[in-house]
Amino acid sequence: MQQWRNRRILDLLGMETPIIQAPMAGADSVRLALAVCKAGGLGSFACALKSLDEVRASVQKLREATDRPFNLNFFCHVMQAPSQADIERWRDFLRPFYVRWGLDPETVPPSRLRMPFDKEACRFVEEIRPPVVSFHFGLPAPALVDRLKNRNIRILSTATSVAEAKWLEEHGCDAVIVQGVEAGGHRGMFLEKDPARQAGLFALLPQVADQVKIPLIATGGIADARGIVAAFALGASGVQMGTAYLFCPEAEIPPLYRKALEEVSESGTALTNLFSGRPARAIVNRYVEEGGLMSDAALPFPYAATLVLPLRNASERANSNDCMQLWAGQAAQLRRFSNSRGVLRGVPGGVFLGKRPLNVRGSALHQLENRYSQTRRRRKFHPNPGGQHAGLL
Ligand SMILES: Cc1cc2nc3c(=O)[nH]c(=O)nc-3n(C[C@H](O)[C@H](O)[C@H](O)COP(=O)(O)O)c2cc1C
Repeated sequence: MQQWRNRRILDLLGMETPIIQAPMAGADSVRLALAVCKAGGLGSFACALKSLDEVRASVQKLREATDRPFNLNFFCHVMQAPSQADIERWRDFLRPFYVRWGLDPETVPPSRLRMPFDKEACRFVEEIRPPVVSFHFGLPAPALVDRLKNRNIRILSTATSVAEAKWLEEHGCDAVIVQGVEAGGHRGMFLEKDPARQAGLFALLPQVADQVKIPLIATGGIADARGIVAAFALGASGVQMGTAYLFCPEAEIPPLYRKALEEVSESGTALTNLFSGRPARAIVNRYVEEGGLMSDAALPFPYAATLVLPLRNASERANSNDCMQLWAGQAAQLRRFSNSRGVLRGVPGGVFLGKRPLNVRGSALHQLENRYSQTRRRRKFHPNPGGQHAGLL
C-alpha cells in the first residue's frame, strides 16, 4: 500500500499522519492530545505551567487510552531574576490597568512561573520516557540533551531563523520545528533578538531546507490542507498546528477566548511582550492596544507574568476579554471559515478534504495535490479565503 511519499517525520516519530498538535501551555489537554494520537497524529502536552506530578497524571491517563506516540514540551529559557527597580518600573507601567479593575498593585499574590527544563525535569522525563520531547527557546544543557538521547527519546526544538535551525541541528535535535512569524503564542527565538526581523514561514522554510539536513516541521499560519501542501512543497516533512486546534472542543480555553478567536481577522493579532516579557502573538485586545504592543518596561520572561495575572483574572471575572491573554496566530480566521464549510473538520489530527477524510495510508500528499489542482481546474478560482476558495479544499 502506498504511503505518504515523504516519510521522514513519520518514521522518526512513529506516527501515521505528519501532523503534530502544537503543545499549548494553558490550552491543551489530555483529551486533545488523545484525540490527535488516535487520529494518527502526534498529540502534545505543554509542561511549562504544570507541576511534574500533574504531567505524570496526564501521561498516565493518555497511556491508559492509547499506545500511540506523544510529545512532552518544555521551555528552556534562562531565569534572570529582576531587580527591585525593574519590578517597580513594571508595576508603574501596569498601575493604570490595576486602577481600572479596582486592584492594588502592591499586594499581588505569588503565582506559578513558567520554569525551564532542569535536572529534576530531566530525571522525570528519563523515568516517564515519552517517545518525543520538544523544546521552546533553544535546548537545555548538552548533558541533559545527551541523557534524553541515551533513552532513545526523540528531540525537537523550534527555530525562527536559518541560524537557529543550524544551531539546533549541530546541538543534537532530531528534527527542527520551523516557526514562521504568523505563529500564535511565544516566538521560539533564542539566538535572534529582534521580533521585527522575524520571517514568515513561506520565506523561512525553503531557506532552512536548503541549509539543514535533518527533517523539518513547519509551523505558523497553517490551518487547512492548502497550508499542509504548501509546507511540504517548501521542504517540510511534517506540520505543527496550534491555533487551528484551539477551535476543537477538546481545547481547554475559556468561552471568552473562544469567542475572540471566532471573531478575529487576519490583522487582528500582533506580537506583544506585555503578558510574559517575551514576544508572543496574541489577539489585540484593549490591554495590548493601550500598552503599545511591546514595552521596555516589561520584566524579563517569565517574571512579567506574575504582575499581569491579577489583571487577566479580573478581566475574565468581569466577563470582559480586555486584559485576557489570547494567544492566536494570523490564520485563525481560516479555521473559522473552514469550520463553517466543513472543510478541515473539527476532528483533531484529521485532515479532511470537503467531506471526505484523507486516506492517510495512501499517498496523502499526492491526494492533496491532485484534489487541490483538480478542484481548481473544475471551479473558478476565487481569491477570497472566506468565499469560494475556502470551499475548494
Ligand atoms: C495558545 C497557544 C499556546 C502555545 N504554547 C506553546 C507552548 O507551551 N510550547 C511551545 O513550544 N509552543 C507553544 N505555542 C506555539 C506553537 O508551538 C506553534 O508554534 C504555533 O501555534 C504555530 O502557529 P499557529 O498557531 O498559527 O498554528 C503555543 C501556541 C498557542 C496558539
